[in-house]
Amino acid sequence: MLDVSSLVDADGGLIERSIYNDERIYKQEMARIFARSWLFLAHRSQFKKPGDFFTTYMGEDPIIVTMDKKKNIRAYLNSCRHRGVRVCRADAGSTKMFTCTYHGWAYNLDGELQTIPNQQAYPDDWNPKDWGLVEVPNVQEYKGLIFGNWDADAMSLSDSLGDDMKYYLDAFIDRDPEGTEVLGGVMKWTLDGNWKLAAEQFATDWYHVNMSHASALMVLSPTGKGPKPEIASTPGRQFTSEHGHGAGFPTHPKSRFDAQTVHEYYDYDFLRERLGDDRVEGPMTTGHATIFPSFSYLPVNGSIRIWHPKGPNKMEVWAWVLVDKSMPEDVKNAQRLYNLRTFGPSGIFEADDGENWSEIQAISEGFITNNTSLNFQMGIGNEHEDGTYPGTTSELYSDAAGRGFYRQWTKLMNTPAWHETKTRPAADKEEN
Ligand code: FES
Repeated sequence: MLDVSSLVDADGGLIERSIYNDERIYKQEMARIFARSWLFLAHRSQFKKPGDFFTTYMGEDPIIVTMDKKKNIRAYLNSCRHRGVRVCRADAGSTKMFTCTYHGWAYNLDGELQTIPNQQAYPDDWNPKDWGLVEVPNVQEYKGLIFGNWDADAMSLSDSLGDDMKYYLDAFIDRDPEGTEVLGGVMKWTLDGNWKLAAEQFATDWYHVNMSHASALMVLSPTGKGPKPEIASTPGRQFTSEHGHGAGFPTHPKSRFDAQTVHEYYDYDFLRERLGDDRVEGPMTTGHATIFPSFSYLPVNGSIRIWHPKGPNKMEVWAWVLVDKSMPEDVKNAQRLYNLRTFGPSGIFEADDGENWSEIQAISEGFITNNTSLNFQMGIGNEHEDGTYPGTTSELYSDAAGRGFYRQWTKLMNTPAWHETKTRPAADKEEN
C-alpha cells in the first residue's frame, strides 16, 4: 500500500492531482475507503414488502439490497458463490429467490443457497449452507437513509455522522414528522471524472457558484441580469466534520431558490418550532453537503445522490428525488420538476458542474500537469466554533470542509483496514 502523506497536505491545503487518476491510488481507495466506510445503499421507502429489492454498488462491488421475511433490510454481494455471475440483474423489483442464470443456483431472501440443480453430483458432505451469498455485515439506518459497511466492527452509523452532521442533515430529512420518501426511480448518468471531484465539491465548494453557474443564476434571477449582489456576497457557514463530512449553506432566507410551489407549501412557523430559527435560515436553504465518502445532498431541490466510482477517471452519478411524505401530490410533483430542471441529469446547474469535473480529468495525464499541486487554502485558519451552528465551521466561502474531507481520506488511506488483519467476510460467515 502507498503512503499518501506526500500527496495530501490537508492542513496546508495542498493536493497532488495524481490522487484523481493514479490507478494504484484508486485500488487502495477500494480497499481502505470503500471497504470500511458507511456507504449509502437505498432509501427505506424503496422497500414496501418482503422480497422488494434494489441493486446498487459499494465502491465497485455489486450489491443487492432487499427486505427479508421479517421486514429487515439486508444487503448481499450480488455475485453467485459458484462461478461469480450476478444473481440479480434487474435495477429493482420484487422476488422470492435470486436465481443465477448460469447454472441455476438459487438463493432465498436470507441469502441462503436453497436450490442447486444436480446437487447429487456434489460430495455427500458438501453443505449448501457454506455457500450462501456474502452478506454485508453492517446495515444501519438514519431516518430513512440506509447505509452499509463491510466492517462488522465499524463505528456505528449514528456515531460516524455525529450529532453535528445530524443537525445539518435533519434540516433536510426531518422537516416532516412523517419522514421522507423517494419519488420514482433513480436517475443515473456517467461522467468523465474522478468520484472525489464531485464529493469534495458538494462538501466544500461554494466558490464556484457565481462563476460556474452564472448563466443558470441569470435564468433564475428575477431581473434576468445574473446573480443579484446579495447572492454574490452571500453570508453563510460551512461545517467540517472530524469524520470527513462537510456542509455549506447561505444564511439568507430572503434569497431562496426553492420551487415556488414548495416554498408556498411550507409552514415556516411549524418548521421554526421543529428545527429552530437557525436551521430554517441556514441549512434548510440552498445548501449542499457530503457525507464521507460518496453520498451528497441538496435540500432545496430534494436531491440525494451517490458518486459511484467507476475506475479512477470515471464516475456514475445515481440521484433520487427526496420529498417530505406529507406533501400533497402537486407539491411533490413541483419538487420533482424543479429537481429535474436544476440538478437532474440535464439540469442547468448539474451540467455546469459535470463539465468542470470532466475538464479537470481530461488533462490529468500530462506529466507536468499531474505533478502540480492544487489549492485548497481558502479560509485556512478560520475554522472555529461560532456559537450558533454546531461543530467546527468557517465562512461559507472556504475550503475548510475540503481540507476535512482530505484529512479523513488520508487517515483511512494510510491505516490498514479490517480485512488486512481479519479473515474475509465469506469465511467469517462460514465459521458462524
Ligand atoms: Fe451461478 Fe454457476 S455461476 S450457478
